[in-house]
Amino acid sequence: MKRVLQRPPVGVARTAVLIAAARAQEQGRLDRLFDDPLAAGLVKAAGSADDLSGVRTLAGDHFVLRTRYFDDELLTSAAPQVVIVAAGLDTRAFRLQWPPGTTLFELDLPELVEFKEDALRDLGAKPLCDRTAIPCDLREDWPTALIRAGFDPGRPAAWLVEGLFMFLPPDAGARLLHWVGALSAPGSTLALEHVNRAFRGLPQMRPVHRRFDTMDARWQSDVEDPVEWLDGYGWDATVTHQVDLAARHGRAVPAITDPRKVGAARIWLASAVRTG
Ligand SMILES: C[S@@+](CC[C@H](N)C(=O)[O-])C[C@H]1O[C@@H](n2cnc3c(N)ncnc32)[C@H](O)[C@@H]1O
Repeated sequence: MKRVLQRPPVGVARTAVLIAAARAQEQGRLDRLFDDPLAAGLVKAAGSADDLSGVRTLAGDHFVLRTRYFDDELLTSAAPQVVIVAAGLDTRAFRLQWPPGTTLFELDLPELVEFKEDALRDLGAKPLCDRTAIPCDLREDWPTALIRAGFDPGRPAAWLVEGLFMFLPPDAGARLLHWVGALSAPGSTLALEHVNRAFRGLPQMRPVHRRFDTMDARWQSDVEDPVEWLDGYGWDATVTHQVDLAARHGRAVPAITDPRKVGAARIWLASAVRTG
């Protein structure tokens, strides 16, 4: 039977190809911070991300450092359930050594999930945990779909929201955080990325915003104090600075996250434990 050709992601879903391209590039380094052998195949199936290479250059090692940071946070959490919110072309289900019995859920837009599942099948990828991909719009009722797929709100979960909040309007981000909290049993953890207003306003970011606007992937929100913000939703959060991450992993501080170059502008990397 003839296979239907995969439709490469477009719009905001295409930003996932940009991040996968950074991980594919990292895979070519001997001193890589993680292994992602599927990333290059996924990018190729998406028709490359060369048109977004300017964004990658500007980010420097930020995408790579954040990937390693969230890998470590998720494995340290050791929760029986993992929820990767806006998973994009994330392949953690296939590349991290999960504790036996881990169930992992990936949420993203239907067109992205369809493309990814086809591409992973073509690449012969085999998950290292019990993985379920859930097509949904995170501005709508995704908790019902997650629970129908087998998520148990009575057991601890490790949540990851990487590279999403800035694309959501503030009210949708607030609803998302509300539901993550409502579904989180004691002992759950949450790791996330966001940006502050000064970061959105950086002159260096103007071409990125112009490019994303043409892709219908406009940045719509920011947060000034992630610890206070997360506290309001029942999470005790810690922020890790890229300067420390870069030092930990022997990399140069990405210029876009170097306070000596960007002043008060911040890309927040935070991890939190459920208190509420
Ligand atoms: C920058 S990518 C990050 C992907 C992944 N977390 C990573 O770091 O590789 C943003 C992702 O958010 C997803 N996304 C954006 N808005 C969404 C929405 N309303 N519902 C579901 N997914 C959404 C996109 O499809 C895309 O996969």
